[in-house]
Amino acid sequence: MAKAVYLWEMEQILQQIEAYKSEMAAFEATTPDAVEAFRIKYLGTKGLVKSVLGEMKNVPPDQRKEFGQVLNEFKAFAEARYEALQGAAAPISAAANAGIDWSLPADPTEVGTRHPLSIVRGQMVSIFRRLGFAVAEGPEIEDDWHNFGAMNLPEDHPARDMQDTFYIQQNPDWLLRTHTSSVQARVMETQKPPIRVICPGRVYRNETISARAHCFFHQVEGLYIDENVSFADLKQTLYFFVQEMFGKDVKVRFRPSYFPFTEPSAEMDISCQICSGKGCNICKHTGWVEILGSGMVHPKVLENFGIDSTKYTGFAFGMGVERITQLKYQVNDLRLYSQNDMRFLKQFTGAL
Ligand code: PHE
Repeated sequence: MAKAVYLWEMEQILQQIEAYKSEMAAFEATTPDAVEAFRIKYLGTKGLVKSVLGEMKNVPPDQRKEFGQVLNEFKAFAEARYEALQGAAAPISAAANAGIDWSLPADPTEVGTRHPLSIVRGQMVSIFRRLGFAVAEGPEIEDDWHNFGAMNLPEDHPARDMQDTFYIQQNPDWLLRTHTSSVQARVMETQKPPIRVICPGRVYRNETISARAHCFFHQVEGLYIDENVSFADLKQTLYFFVQEMFGKDVKVRFRPSYFPFTEPSAEMDISCQICSGKGCNICKHTGWVEILGSGMVHPKVLENFGIDSTKYTGFAFGMGVERITQLKYQVNDLRLYSQNDMRFLKQFTGAL
């Protein structure tokens, strides 16, 4: 009978030990004071561990060994938890001693912004997508054929000198593309008319870096090939584009020009968006700014890709993203685009 009572009490004590253990495990202490409170509560001379150990005297001799192990393990648990709390609180209390005010609000997380050229390229592409143009891309390291030959610039063609080309030293047949017209070649190589693509990308020319020139910049190329495509389609498409980009008041004019891969060729000017046509530095006091080269795809280019030039015609255009961005956001120095100056980049926060 007496034994049964002891057993029952032991059951109680074991339950109590488990309860204390989970209490200790959940005990949070981030300051030295709280860690000390833990020590006093569990490990102090009048602490809970001591009082549980005191139960040993009530344990019948034949169970002392087993019960002793449980108590030892309980004590070790409390000590280990105490050490862990001390370890966790130490750096925090060191910071407190160093004069850090933990009640201060955190520094706001800096959210990045899109680069202005990405913003404008996105706008340009989305306008042409609405007209049914699909995005096409090509490699920045190109071969001579796609950049020049296929675009009707044979090896000795003087127009090659207009674009100061970076050649790859190990293999002079490779170069950094000088224009996105190389993507026209890549598209015609793999697709059959009707073709309607827009090709955004980076291009390279060996120019001295200044406010007005850079050794790399960005273009958006357009190509449309189908039956009965006319110069009027070209004009209307580009007129739609600038109206969407700059608003309904923008004026356009086409000037005859020359590109080996288009015939006839034209450059398009728009009324200066900086001075509204009154005359300023950007438009060199003419009121007009050139934004792109364009023309009807040269029959030879079509034939290079087995496209029947008696059945199909097409137009192409290429424009600089930097120039459009300059007119849209009044950026007056090309170098700003690649200097990573936060004072410049932060001005585009909120733009889409
Ligand atoms: N590739 C020409 C340039 O970089 C632009 C252009 C593209 C002209 C397509 C006509 C047709 O200057």
